[in-house]
Amino acid sequence: MRVVILGSGRGSNAEAILSAQRAGKLGRARVVQILADQPEAGILALGARFGVPAAFVDPAPFKTKLEGEGEVRFIAAVKAAAPDLVVLAGFMRVLKPGFLNAFAGKIINLHPSLLPSFPGLDGIGQAFRRGVKLTGCTVHGVTAEVDGGPILDQMAVRIEAGDTLETLAAKVHAAEHALLPAVIARLSD
Ligand code: GAR
Repeated sequence: MRVVILGSGRGSNAEAILSAQRAGKLGRARVVQILADQPEAGILALGARFGVPAAFVDPAPFKTKLEGEGEVRFIAAVKAAAPDLVVLAGFMRVLKPGFLNAFAGKIINLHPSLLPSFPGLDGIGQAFRRGVKLTGCTVHGVTAEVDGGPILDQMAVRIEAGDTLETLAAKVHAAEHALLPAVIARLSD
C-alpha cells in the first residue's frame, strides 16, 4: 500500500509513521512521498533521515484552503506518487472538491480531539479551555465537511487536575503517535 503524507509543520506524526515502518510495524504500508505546503516545514527534513522523497509544493494563491493553481500542483504531485492512501498529518489546509475527487475514498486525516467535539483549529486548546475531562485524537476519512468524515479510530486522553495546556498537548501528541501508524497498518491488511 503506497502512502503519501501531507503536512505543514514539525512532522512528529510523519516521524511516528516512518519509525513504525522502520520497525516493521506498518503492515503492508510503505511511505513513498512526503509533501509540504510550507517551505520551512520540519516534516521535509524527515525525507533525508528516512530515505523518502520529500518536497515543498507551492499552495498559492490561498492561505487556508487548497484551491485553484495550488490545488492543481498538489493533485499532480500526489498523483505522480501513485498513492493508495493519502495521509493528512498536520496538513493545515481545507481540501476542496478538486483534490477530494482526485483521491476519493483514499484520504485520511488526524485530528487532535475526540470528534465530533472540537473540530477546526486548536482542538487541544479548545478542549482544555472547555474543561472537559476526556479528550484525545481521531483518525477519520476526509470528506467535504471539515473534520466530519467517517471516524476510523480514536484514542482517549484524560485531562487531570494538574494538567496545563502544555502537558495536555504532550499527552495528545503521544496518543496520536500511537494511533495513526496503527490505523495505517490496519488499513494495509
Ligand atoms: C497534530 O496534533 C494534528 O492532530 C494536528 O496538527 C498536529 C501536527 O503535528 N492537525 C490538525 O489540527 C488538523 N486540523 P505534527 O506536524 O508534529 O505531526
